[in-house]
Amino acid sequence: MTASGQGSGFFEIIENHMKPIQVGLLGIGTVGSGTYKVLLRNQEEIKRRAGRGIEITMVADLDVERARGLVGPDVAVVGNAREVIANPDIDIVIELIGGYGVARTLVLEAIASGKHVVTANKALLAVHGTEIFAAASARGVMVAFEAAVAGGIPIIKALREGLTANRIEWIAGIINGTTNFILSEMRDKGLDFDVVLKEARRLGYAEADPTFDIEGVDAAHKATIMSAIAFGIPVQFDKAHVEGITQLSSTDIRYAEQLGYRIKLLGITKRTERGVELRVHPCLVPAKRLIANVEGAMNAVLVQGDAVGSTLYYGKGAGSEPTASAVVADLVDITRLHTADPLNRVPHLAFQPDAMSDLPVLPMTEVRTSYYLRLRVADQAGVLSQVTGLLAEAGISIDAVLQREADEVGGEGATSTDLIILTHETREGTMNEVMARMQSLPSVLAPITRIRKEELN
Ligand code: HSE
Repeated sequence: MTASGQGSGFFEIIENHMKPIQVGLLGIGTVGSGTYKVLLRNQEEIKRRAGRGIEITMVADLDVERARGLVGPDVAVVGNAREVIANPDIDIVIELIGGYGVARTLVLEAIASGKHVVTANKALLAVHGTEIFAAASARGVMVAFEAAVAGGIPIIKALREGLTANRIEWIAGIINGTTNFILSEMRDKGLDFDVVLKEARRLGYAEADPTFDIEGVDAAHKATIMSAIAFGIPVQFDKAHVEGITQLSSTDIRYAEQLGYRIKLLGITKRTERGVELRVHPCLVPAKRLIANVEGAMNAVLVQGDAVGSTLYYGKGAGSEPTASAVVADLVDITRLHTADPLNRVPHLAFQPDAMSDLPVLPMTEVRTSYYLRLRVADQAGVLSQVTGLLAEAGISIDAVLQREADEVGGEGATSTDLIILTHETREGTMNEVMARMQSLPSVLAPITRIRKEELN
C-alpha cells in the first residue's frame, strides 16, 4: 500500500516525528545553562545525528529573572517545575535540581506524566534508583543519566553498551574532581588538607558545603551506580563503604611517594565469588599506573573486562559544558529511541529488569585488599619484631618496610619514629583485629594510620 493509502493519521505521525522534540529544563544553573548553550551552538550537527531537532522550549527555575536572562525570547520561563511537567508538548524533562528531596518527587511526577527524563543527579539515583527505574519501566519511558557519573566521560555508555560482551570484573575510578584536586595539590606542594581545601573553595572547585565531596559521598553515589550497571545488581548506596580524605596527612602522601605509590580517592567495585565489593576510600596506587597520574580536577575510570582487559576513560568530571555534553548525548539517545518498543530499548541498568542478580554487596570486613600502615613507635630494640610478629601470627605477609631515623622524623634527640609497612592482600576483618592488637602495644605511641592499597593490574 502506498503512503497515500494510509489515511491522514499516518501523515500526522510522520509530521510529529519530524518536528523538533521539545525539552523542559528543571533548574538552569551551571549545567543547565551549559546544556542550553551546547544544544543551540551545535544544533545543526545534533539534528543530523538525532534525525530531528531537539529544543529546550521551557525552563523552570526559582530565580525566574536570572533564568530569563540566560535563554532566548522563545523559551517559556516559569518558577514552578510542575508547569513544565504538566505541559503536554514537552517530551523530555531534564532534572538538574539535585538532591534527594524535591528532585525525586518531580522525577516521579514527570515519569507518571509519560515524559522521558534526563538527570545528572547521582545522589537521587544511587539512593532511589530502584524506585525510579521501576516507575519508568512500568510507564514505558526512559530515564537517562550519563551526566550522573564522571561528568563528560561517557562511562555509562561504555559500561552499558560498549563493553556489553564482557563479564566486568572490577572498576576503579577517580570520580570526584574536588578531592583529586586537593590530593594533587597536597602532593605537589606538600600542603595540608585544610590549606588546600580553602584554595579549592577559592578557585570554585569545592562547593560552599563540600562535605559530600571530601567525605567520599559523591564518589560513593557514582560508584554505586557503576556497580549496578557492571554487575546487574540493584543500586545499593546504603551498602557502600564510604571514607573521604579529611584524615589524610601530607606525611602519608610523602611516604607513599618514597615507596613508589600515589594516594588517590578511588571508587572501587569488584565482583568476587562471595559478593560485590563497593567502596570509596583513599588508596595507594603504583605511581607508574596511568590512573595514578590523573591530576587536578580530572576524572578517570579504569574498567577490567574479561574479554577486553583493561580500558581507561579520562576527562572532565564536572563543569558546565563537559557535563552538558553528557546531558545532550542523553537527549539524542532518547530522541533516537523514543519510538522504539520499550522492551527493545537499552535497559536502564544494562541488564534486563527481570534478569538482575542477587549477588550481595559484601560488608567491608569481608573485602580483601592490601595495606599501608604507619605506626609512630618508640625507637627501641625489638619494636619492629613485635609489630611484624603480630602480622605473621595472623598470616599477613609483608611486602615492604620503611623505617625513618628518629631524628629525621622528630628532630635531634627524638625517641620515637615512623614505621611504615606495606602488606600483601588480606581480609579487612583480619587486619582490623591485628591493628587493634598493634595499637595496644606499649611501644606504639599514637593511633595507627591505615590506608588501603590496590595494584590495579
Ligand atoms: N562535585 C563533583 C566533583 C562534581 O568534584 O567531581 C559533581 O559530581
